[in-house]
This record gives sequence, structure tokens and C-alpha cells, in this order.
Amino acid sequence: MSPTLIRQMRLGAAFVLLTYLILHFLNHALGLVSLAAMEAGRWWFLALWRSAIGTLALYGAILVHGVLALWLLYQRPSLRMSVWEAMQYGLGLVLPALLAIHVVATRVAWWQMGSDDRYARVLLSYWVVAPERGIWQAIAVASAWTHACIGLHYWLRFRPWYPRAAPWLLTIALLLPSAALAGFVAGGREVTLLARTPGWTETLTRQTRPPDATEAAALLRIRLGFLDAYLAALLVVLAARGGRALWRRRRSVRIVYPGPRVVSVPIGFTILDASRAAGIPHASVCGGRGRCSTCRVHVTRGLGELPAPSAAERRVLARVGAAGDVRLACQTRPTHEVAVVPLLAPSIEPEASFSADVRQGHEAEIAVLFADLRGFTRMAEPKLPYDVVFVLNRYFEAVGTAITGAGGITNQFTGDGVMALFGLDTGPAEGSRAALAAARAMVERVAALSAELAADLPAPLRIGIGVHAGPAVVGRMGWGESFYLTAVGDTVHVAARLEQATKDYAAELVVSEAIAGYAQVDLSAFPGHELAVRNRAGHVRVRVIPRAAALRLPAPTR
Ligand code: FES
Repeated sequence: MSPTLIRQMRLGAAFVLLTYLILHFLNHALGLVSLAAMEAGRWWFLALWRSAIGTLALYGAILVHGVLALWLLYQRPSLRMSVWEAMQYGLGLVLPALLAIHVVATRVAWWQMGSDDRYARVLLSYWVVAPERGIWQAIAVASAWTHACIGLHYWLRFRPWYPRAAPWLLTIALLLPSAALAGFVAGGREVTLLARTPGWTETLTRQTRPPDATEAAALLRIRLGFLDAYLAALLVVLAARGGRALWRRRRSVRIVYPGPRVVSVPIGFTILDASRAAGIPHASVCGGRGRCSTCRVHVTRGLGELPAPSAAERRVLARVGAAGDVRLACQTRPTHEVAVVPLLAPSIEPEASFSADVRQGHEAEIAVLFADLRGFTRMAEPKLPYDVVFVLNRYFEAVGTAITGAGGITNQFTGDGVMALFGLDTGPAEGSRAALAAARAMVERVAALSAELAADLPAPLRIGIGVHAGPAVVGRMGWGESFYLTAVGDTVHVAARLEQATKDYAAELVVSEAIAGYAQVDLSAFPGHELAVRNRAGHVRVRVIPRAAALRLPAPTR
């Protein structure tokens, strides 16, 4: 099964479980209104989750999430991980044991024995009959929520909007379980009072038919059977890991780093795995997927005994013009002793290289826009520096608001040039439409600014914009305090070239046909050209749009 499919299946299952948890919390929170409100909310909750589809989705998600978690635990080359990742793993692994008691006492008892697990009965059990079970259940639910929140953070942290949204998400992450807990307490107190009413508990018992002694023993057997099976599965995974490690240790290989420092790793590990296992800082911007070349090493001994590079590795090495004794550490699995020298100094701490930190970047299909003021340097020469700063700031405000208004991110303001990224969180189709809409709005706003400053300007401001879409590496790059989100790669290079081409064609806009394809916009009315791009094989097919106002765009979908 491909890693992408595994990731998608885990994500889908996690979403179902998160939805279940959120709805469960909201149902608990109704206890702040009354016990009756909790019971009414539960009716809707069960209508969803005890329907055939809800049951299939919920238990299918539990199974998929659990089995894949065990599989990934087996697959991990090393159990070294960040504290948060360790916490997520740890909580995930103890959750089945924590939740089993509640699930068996409610869902299984309802399903097998026809017991009604309405809130009144469960709260009576947790608050009056066996309060320790209530504490246990609160711990279980808090663990599930923490596990889900860490997973959500790991999933979302690459999104450009995440740093802005994080405080709000954290607020929700704290408020939701707090409201649920408060509802649980309020409901529990109401039930405690009701239980003092003569006859109330007997009536409830008659109505809900809790399991009798025989049935309770059967439920206990089910719970213990489940726990035994889960523990056995966990032990099998750990034993398989241990067996694999032993087998590999007997067939280990030595990797010599400068220093010299020698690391012994099982055959099958990559050189990058070896660096990580030994805590040796090693650059790996693409996370070890053979797409960036930052992990490359100079092999000073044992080159001839290394397995030949794959076609993909050869392509990457050729692209950076690497010498014959250079290999990608993340793609090379030595079978004999080798001596290597990492060629790029890592800019991150070793701990961070165990996870895909935001600073390492990730690949995404995005739209990139470059814009430049035409002839501004000449226009600025006779002006006072402060006047130039004033005009430039007004210009940046005009184009910046056009970009962000269309959903883009202004990335760089250099001189009188602007670079902007689109589609980081919406994908290339929406991003391409947004980039084209931004380009048109930028031209309109610059024209409006020109009219406003006409008395101060020797000639109207003119802007040239190039737009292209495709794959790029997006990440927070920089140093020290100066980290900012940007993109690098061929797509960025081409977009910059298209902006320069606006001068050659005396046009406001030059856009690639790729972006027209992504955006599903018909640009056939505009003249097409084949454009050569320096240091790039082949030509880029572009459309030249003399006046951006002539651009007809579909209505935005967001
Ligand atoms: S880490 Fe990117 S190519 Fe090896």
C-alpha cells in the first residue's frame, strides 16, 4: 500500500473520530442547560452514530486508525521522536485500554443486552455508584482530545493561515472540552439530587434495564478479551520490531563521518537514517524524499560498493551538477562500510530533523505572481527620497490589498517589485483563479493610484505582471528572527521570467497556459507565444494580455 494512500486513509479515519468526539462534547455540554437537554441531544447523536452508516463509519474509522497506527509503529526505522510526537503516540496507544470500559458498558451492553445507556443511568453510575469510573472516563476523554489536537496541529502546521488561526483554534481546543466537562458536572449534580428522590433510582433501573450479574460477567469477558487481543497485537508489533532490529544488527554496516565519527546501522538504513539515529545534524529539506539534494554527501571511501543510484536520484544529482562521488544521503543504503562528508551545513537542530518542521518546507502546487513597476527608477530619479518612499508605500498598499483581497499572500517587496503566492491552502485551481483576479485588481488599483497622484507623477504608473502555476517548495525560510513564508523552484523562476516578458510585449499581463488550464479560463482570444526561459529546457507557452481589463474571469468560489 502506498504511503500516500495510508496517509489519506488515516486522515479520513481521524476526521470521522474527531467529528464523533466534537459531537459527543457538544452533547455533554448540554448538561449546562439540563439533564433533559442532554437526553434530547443524545437522541440526535445516536440517530447519527447508531444508524447503519454511522456505525460503519465509526467502527470502520476506529479499526483503520488503530491498524494503521500499529503498522506505522512497526515501520518506523527508529523510535526517536519529538516530545509531542511521543505524547501523541503514547496517548494513541493507551486509548483503546482507557476507552474499552465505557464502550463495553454503553454501546456493547445496548447492542448485546438491550440496556438503555441514557445519560441519567451513565451519570448515576459515574457520580453515585462508582465515582472512580467517572474519573477514569474523564481521563480517557481528555487523552483522546489531546491526541486529536496534537494530530490536528501536525496536519495543519504547514498551512500558511495556521499561525494566524492557531490562537483561535487553541481557544476552541480548550473551550470545547471545558464546556463538555462543565456539562458533565452539571448533569452529574442533577442526577445526584434526583437519586435522593425516593423511587427515582428504581424507576430508572426498571426503564433502562442495566445488565444483571450474568450479563455484567459476560461484558467483563468481552472487555478483557478485547484488551488481551489489543495487548497481543501491540506485543506482536514490538516483538516484530525487536526481531527486525536483531536481524539487522547482525547485518549492520559502518558509516564513517568526519571527525572521525563512526555510526553502525542495520543494512537497509539510508545514510540519512544513520545521521538521524546518531543525532548527527544533517540537512534534509524535503524530509528525505529525494526531491531537494540538500542531504547530499561526498563519499570519500566505499563509493564503488554502494548500490547504484536510482533514476530519480540520478536526475536530482544531474540537476545540481553533482560530481560523480556525490550521493543523496536519503536515497543511499550502504551495504559495506563507507566514509561520507555531508556537503550542506544543516540549519536546523537534530531533533527537528526527526519531524517535518515547518522550516523544512514542503512541496505544493501553487500559483505565483510577480509584478514590477515599469520605468519607476527613471521616474524616481529627480524626486526627493522621501517622496519616492511615499509613492512606493502607496503602490505597495494598492497591490498588497489587491493580492490579499483575492486570497493571496504577499511574499516579497523588493525595490518596486512584488512576489505573491496563491492557492497554498486552496489548491492550484482556486489559486490560479485568485492570481488572475489579483492581477486584474492590481492593474485597476495602480491606475486609480496614478489618477490620485497625477499632479505628483510625470507619467501614469504602469505595471507588468507575470503569473504561472505549478509545483514549488513552500516553507518558512530565513534566519534568526527573519523567517518568512516563501516558495522556490521552477514555477517561481518561470513566473519571474513572465513578468520580465511583459516589457518585451509591452503588455500588462503575461500568463502561462498552465495557469489558464488550472483556472479553467479560456484565454484563446489573446495572442499565444512560446517563451524561452534561461537554464530551463523547452519553452513555456504563454498568453500575452495587453490590457488586464480585457480579462474575463469566472465568479470566485470563495
Ligand atoms: S533530503 Fe531531500 S533529497 Fe535527501
